[in-house]
Amino acid sequence: MSKCRICDNTFDPFISFGKMPIANGFLTSEEFEKEYFYELKVGFCTKCTMVQLVEQPDRDMMFHDNYAYFSSISSMMAAHFRDFAKLVMDNYIPDKNPFVVEIGSNDGIMLRHFADRGIRHLGIEPSGNVAQVAREKGIETLCEFFEESVADHIKAEHGQADVVVAANVMCHIPYLDSIVRGVLRLLKPEGMFIFEDPYLGDIIEITSYDQIYDEHVFYFSVTSVQYLFNMHGMQVIDIMPQNVHGGSMRYLIAHKGVFPVSAKVKSQIQKEEKLGLHKKEIFNKFRLNVERSRDGLVQTLTNLKNQGKRVIGYGATSKSTTVINYCGITPDLIAFISDTTPTKQGKYSPGTHIPIKPYDEFCSKYPDVALLFAWNHGEEIMSKETKFTDAGGNWLVYVPEVRIFH
Ligand code: SAH
Ligand code: TMP
Ligand code: ZN
Repeated sequence: MSKCRICDNTFDPFISFGKMPIANGFLTSEEFEKEYFYELKVGFCTKCTMVQLVEQPDRDMMFHDNYAYFSSISSMMAAHFRDFAKLVMDNYIPDKNPFVVEIGSNDGIMLRHFADRGIRHLGIEPSGNVAQVAREKGIETLCEFFEESVADHIKAEHGQADVVVAANVMCHIPYLDSIVRGVLRLLKPEGMFIFEDPYLGDIIEITSYDQIYDEHVFYFSVTSVQYLFNMHGMQVIDIMPQNVHGGSMRYLIAHKGVFPVSAKVKSQIQKEEKLGLHKKEIFNKFRLNVERSRDGLVQTLTNLKNQGKRVIGYGATSKSTTVINYCGITPDLIAFISDTTPTKQGKYSPGTHIPIKPYDEFCSKYPDVALLFAWNHGEEIMSKETKFTDAGGNWLVYVPEVRIFH
């Protein structure tokens, strides 16, 4: 039995992926021996409906001065955050001296648009290396983990915020009660908290089990997010589905009773009920789908190996760590993984130690098959890799199902 991180109820995990290393823990061969592992298990709380990890490594093991994920590496995500910033500027900030705070601002992918317009802003980013990149772009960045005490400190120094934004970070933070209390105090009475994260409904629907890894401690639905904020005197005002990261949901949250609630909130909660996201059964079905996906991928890679085909991974994503270790994919099945992030190149993938090589090595000798670990950037990647497919290259994907295509 595990204790719910939101409501103190207890639950049993519905799936275990076995021993897992740190998802973004790309490492050198000297570091193999001291590599850290934990058990990746997920549970569902029947009381508050929150889906969550049972065990999460210490935050300092995941977010530090060598953090591997630089948001601005993807032009699709850069465009997405330009639009997100525009939505905020057009609708949610006052004309007079606005102040915008971002939790988990990374390399400044979103805040740069506020900085460019001279809008008062502050990013809270604990990973020192990515925070430094943001600062070099002229983006005000506080290198700390956001929590209640940090919110009070920001409020004392800068005053309350008109808007607090957060993308792909709320689902990372186990101490959400402290975060929500911090946002509650930092936000002006008519302020708006806007955040987005991968959406549980999509994860279940397309069996994207690779969204499950150490950093993602929570898997949100509108139902569970509403429960959480209601506990703290706030409410979900509106929701906006997003097609990034394999399906995300944007939540607009305000102090209770200040703004009218969009009808979309209620209808999405009804949809979730119909889908069964508030009941245990669906998660057992999900487990069976995950096992089927794993068996299909292992079979496909084994067949390709037996046929003498050369397979290369495309994108050393954090998500791929779950797939690679759960399926037991070793360098005899995938010769290397190509990635454009300089700090990952020359290192090895966490757990099974597949070499990570620069993108040039993919281009200089195309493989027979590219296993698309960065499937959520699929459109962007396919459109720039026509030379690979023209040369006879095939793509292998595993979401929503295992499939090879040309
Ligand atoms: N918002 C960016 C980055 C997402 S990655 C994007 O969507 O692309 C998550 C980021 O949150 C990392 O840069 C990590 O260092 C940061 N983070 C983790 N815990 C945090 C916390 N408690 N407060 C603020 N940022 C945090
Ligand atoms: P993400 O799925 O967590 O966003 O990570 C994407 C990873 O894929 C990141 O390490 C960069 C890499 N990548 C490439 O190598 N080539 C590409 O064209 C894209 C879009 C990403
Ligand atoms: Zn609960």
